[in-house]
Amino acid sequence: MSALPPRPKGLLRGYVSMLRDPPGFALQCRRELGQVADLSLLGMRMVLIHDPALIEHVLLKDQHLYIKDALTRGLDEVVGNGLLVSEGDFWKRQRRLMQPAFHQRRIAEYARTMVTETQSMLEGWSDGEARDLHADMMTLTLRIVARALFGSGISDADAGRVETAIAEIMRRYLGIFGSGIVLPLAVPTPGARRFRRQIAALDRILLEIIRARRAGAGRDAGSERGDLLDMLLEMQDEDGTRMTDSQLRDECMTLFLAGHETTALNLTYAFHLLGHHPDARDRLEQELADVLGGREPEMADLPRLPFTRAVVNEALRLYPPAWSIGREPTEDVTLGDYPIAAGTQIWIAPWATHREPEHFPEPEAFRPERWLDGLDKRLPRYVFMPFGGGPRICIGNAFAMTEAVLALATIAQRFELEPTGGRELELVPSVTLRPKGGLPVRVRTRTAQKP
Ligand code: HEM
Repeated sequence: MSALPPRPKGLLRGYVSMLRDPPGFALQCRRELGQVADLSLLGMRMVLIHDPALIEHVLLKDQHLYIKDALTRGLDEVVGNGLLVSEGDFWKRQRRLMQPAFHQRRIAEYARTMVTETQSMLEGWSDGEARDLHADMMTLTLRIVARALFGSGISDADAGRVETAIAEIMRRYLGIFGSGIVLPLAVPTPGARRFRRQIAALDRILLEIIRARRAGAGRDAGSERGDLLDMLLEMQDEDGTRMTDSQLRDECMTLFLAGHETTALNLTYAFHLLGHHPDARDRLEQELADVLGGREPEMADLPRLPFTRAVVNEALRLYPPAWSIGREPTEDVTLGDYPIAAGTQIWIAPWATHREPEHFPEPEAFRPERWLDGLDKRLPRYVFMPFGGGPRICIGNAFAMTEAVLALATIAQRFELEPTGGRELELVPSVTLRPKGGLPVRVRTRTAQKP
């Protein structure tokens, strides 16, 4: 057994570039050091892994030996003990309860909401207008999650308040990689006070909705089966044990947090890439014209929109919103040839695995067509992993893919989005990977459908 994985030369200098550009640093480690790198420094143990077989060990085969990494665990100040951070038997039970709410049959019901909310956003756009597409996509996907969760049980005013609160809460994490630290909330900075206020505001809204629902109010009149919150309430009844209001609050907060920014980023990057690749945009428009001919897309159209889906996949490959996945072994383990001590932060970087030239020739090129001949079925597991893997794979995976394809199709049919910023994006690594300063575009009404 080897003593330690290779370390970058001049690690301290390396750290500076890691803080400035963590995804780029992960890729550089892969190219210069191979499949495993030891990044431990100043008492903090960290190992970066790229090898799909090792990733499979961490996320699947030996997953019982790992918990979420320290950074993800820190999100409990927002999501409490929600699905993203809970562990062990408690996590297993919650996942089992929530899984049916994400089955294909349910997603077909949310699909209408996805298209309706996208159309209603587009009603506010006018020809020639300059917009920040990232801000628009954040609002859109938050609305969609809110409607999927609460149906008409959330007023427009409350939805607006939720949006403001979530945006404020996420600001806390924006500097997380730039500075490497998040100050504990006990340190009374103005930011910490603002954060607490917003969490309290969000709690009030969520608990009000949950209590009203328990009392039998606020149900979506138009829907027979109800919304996601109804599902969560029903599920617990079947199980015999009740989720408390505070557990429901944690799960709703988790779905808000995990379910909107990631999809917003996927759409933002997809439009950025399309904006700079007119051939791909033409092909997309042609597919939409052939299949939809100007009508609204619906769930049943998805299999007939392979290129639209390929654009979504290629954007997920090049700009994985969850660009980093972390775990921590709770006891000493071995990874390949290496002994890894309990408490080591294990860093998995989809940003780097998605750029393996062996699987993705010309890895930096935007080529949606690479997905058209069944590439996702041929790829070894744990190479393309925008949604993670193993039992903790994203529960909203199918929801997100449906949402991205339907929203992309709805928007691209009505508007052409001209990028007004540069081709190269400056990225802000946080819990997700955001474009610095948003994504400025000019929107142009599409006048005619191509024959
Ligand atoms: C493009 C969009 C999305 C991406 C890229 C994404 C990515 C991910 C990834 C990588 C994980 C695993 C994290 C880990 O293993 O540590 C995850 C977990 C999760 N995601 Fe997503 N996600 C997306 C959309 C959504 C949506 C729409 C929802 C819900 C409506 C959602 C809810 C969750 C939840 C609850 C978890 C925790 C699951 C568990 O641990 O059991 N995500 N997501």
